[in-house]
Amino acid sequence: MENLPRHVGVIMDGNGRWAQLRGLKRIEGHRRGAERAKDIIRASLDLGIEVLTLYAFSIENWQRPEDEVSTLMELLEVYLSRELIDLINEGIRFRVIGNIERLPLQIQHIIRDAEKLTETNSRLTLVLALSYSGRDEIVRAVKKIVKAGLEPEEINDGVFDSFLDTKGLPPVDLIIRTSGEMRISNFLLWQGAYAELYFTETLWPDFTKEEFMLAIQDFQRRERRFGTVLSS
Ligand code: IPE
Ligand code: IPE
Ligand code: MG
Repeated sequence: MENLPRHVGVIMDGNGRWAQLRGLKRIEGHRRGAERAKDIIRASLDLGIEVLTLYAFSIENWQRPEDEVSTLMELLEVYLSRELIDLINEGIRFRVIGNIERLPLQIQHIIRDAEKLTETNSRLTLVLALSYSGRDEIVRAVKKIVKAGLEPEEINDGVFDSFLDTKGLPPVDLIIRTSGEMRISNFLLWQGAYAELYFTETLWPDFTKEEFMLAIQDFQRRERRFGTVLSS
């Protein structure tokens, strides 16, 4: 249990390919993917990880065919309302990062309610990145800073951090991406400055608790230097 990452981020990729390989519609892959997300939340609770951020929908994903976007939104709505009671009972603090205003109103309400109902929970913080992109988050942070009327000399690393959607959360230590793609796709650009990266060929709907544990073990063996020289 030593050297556990405090904050794990997951780019849950490969749902569409998983479905296509089986002659199913892409949405079936998303449905199966949501089940895997539940397994990984459970595993994070068991391990005692502080923050788990799941990348569920990017700003760029709005450009997908309309029927995929709308079915994804329906799935999200069902999933969020159904799982809310469990989140509360498990002591999970729920948060969403991203450009929430672009989501259907109904989903915005569910999100706000869930955040409120779980805000005093102190076990795992579960962060859902929805309608999220790192660049958009940074641009929105700059706008908020300008609106707040901050002077240039008042702005530093920590102050900037407090204007991001992830305000108050530790930086991400480990980013896992499934489906063999080796890119960040606009995920946690600022927060992942020193994240360790873990890539696997496994498609997200096949990503098990066991494989999650392998990723964590891999992280525990890494030597993190943060640009300095380790004393011998
Ligand atoms: C990830 O799976 C889920 C979302 C981006 C919503 P994809 O839908 O990107 O699946 P592939 O990459 O096309 O297989
Ligand atoms: C990244 O996956 C976004 C999510 C997993 C939500 P994409 O499938 O959208 O990313 P690209 O297009 O491969 O970069
Ligand atoms: Mg993809």
